[in-house]
Amino acid sequence: MEIPEHIAIIMDGNGRWARQNGLPRFAGHQEGVNTVRRIVRECSRLQIRYLTLYAFSSENWHRPEQEVQALMSLLDTYLASEISLLQQNDIRLNVIGDLTRLPTHLREKVEDKVRQTRGNSSMTLTLALSYGARDEMLRAVRSVCTDAVAGVIDPADLDERMFSTYLDTVAMPDPDILIRTSGEQRISNFLLWQIAYTELFFCPCFWPEFGLDHLDSILKEYQNRCRRFGRVSNETFPQ
Ligand code: FPP
Repeated sequence: MEIPEHIAIIMDGNGRWARQNGLPRFAGHQEGVNTVRRIVRECSRLQIRYLTLYAFSSENWHRPEQEVQALMSLLDTYLASEISLLQQNDIRLNVIGDLTRLPTHLREKVEDKVRQTRGNSSMTLTLALSYGARDEMLRAVRSVCTDAVAGVIDPADLDERMFSTYLDTVAMPDPDILIRTSGEQRISNFLLWQIAYTELFFCPCFWPEFGLDHLDSILKEYQNRCRRFGRVSNETFPQ
């Protein structure tokens, strides 16, 4: 089976799962963390090199204060409890997004875990935190302009490859697969530059219900998709 190099996931439906089960929204996010554990472990077992999870978007700051705090505290606990799993499985933690907006104590914790796992190389687990693709691109454009004004780069040299090095995802391959749970079929400002040729999968189940069987059927369907990257397939025009 051809294993994708990079899987990105929009983990959606925690709130609806909670409501469906007569629970507060927070319980949905808690259950969502259990799914994160399950999927991180499975992707590591399958030797997937990059897993990127949309954990908190730049727009999520507009949620009620209580929910924002609950999500921050879940992240805090996750980082503390998962570090041994990351070390045991040779997983490097990485983050993308505007970390300056995170509470200082949490930002320091995140940066600390990133440092602690820097030497791991089997899989890179990237958490998108306070992340929005438009914000990422704007920050990149600002840096490009700064470097151009300072004479560090010549604007004439700016191509897709060079621009990619200004994005938060520098040194990461583009996702092969993007999964969104909960049945919504939108991208919601996630990795807009990077998913130009990514295969999209929309799974009807809520994130807390997303299991290894769902991942397995997505991986099987991925084998049957023909990725052409804007070219023609060898079958249509054999060489
Ligand atoms: C979407 O569900 C999910 C989020 C906004 C946050 C995802 C967070 C987690 C899974 C837990 C924390 C993550 C880590 C990595 C520790 P929603 O609340 O938008 O659900 P709804 O659309 O049904 O309301």
